[in-house]
Amino acid sequence: MNSKPIAVFDSGLGGLSVVRHLRQILPDEDIVYFGDTARVPYGTKTRATVVNFSLDDATFLLQFEPKLVVVACNTASALAMPEIIRAMPVPVIGVVEPGARTAAEIAGEGTIVVLGTEATVNSGAYPAAIAACGVNSRVIQKACPLFVPLVEEGRDAGDPIVRMTVESYLSPLKTEPIRAIVLGCTHYPLLREAIATVIGPAVHIVDSGREASLAV
Ligand code: DGL
Repeated sequence: MNSKPIAVFDSGLGGLSVVRHLRQILPDEDIVYFGDTARVPYGTKTRATVVNFSLDDATFLLQFEPKLVVVACNTASALAMPEIIRAMPVPVIGVVEPGARTAAEIAGEGTIVVLGTEATVNSGAYPAAIAACGVNSRVIQKACPLFVPLVEEGRDAGDPIVRMTVESYLSPLKTEPIRAIVLGCTHYPLLREAIATVIGPAVHIVDSGREASLAV
């Protein structure tokens, strides 16, 4: 086995939700994690800024001589993958493509809802990755900008402000025939329970971080 570590980065703390899956799936691997808490959020910034910050993060991690870099941040995965891949001397795995693939497999020709930051939604990366799977799924995107500060503040799925915010973003979608909902942001798995309560038990919840960890 190659004993070098797996390097993981995110714009903040949310990427630890991806590290949790990696540790479960690959318990013998060393993991080096960098969360850019000084500059979070990325999801409200321009493509150029997200690319620059992502390259800083990935380059910083090279000092630990990783065998692989995981871009846990959906915003960075959506906006900066080609630049990161070009700059890294090791393989790079992002979260968008694995999450999109699983959602497409589950939904087929049905409806997929993608929840993400404004930057991720505006990039169109998820609809493009789902279309690339060769299925004709209908994709509805929904930016949920308040979720990130709520999680960074330590509020969880049981918090009344979280429940109200989730209800306000997602209840307009309840009339849609949703087959799968993609948690397209590292912070959203921490609100999974509240999201499941609003969206109902029939909808498959796809955690991009888990899918990316399986790809790793
Ligand atoms: N880590 C970001 C993502 O997964 C969410 C937080 C942010 O906006 O930076 O998209």
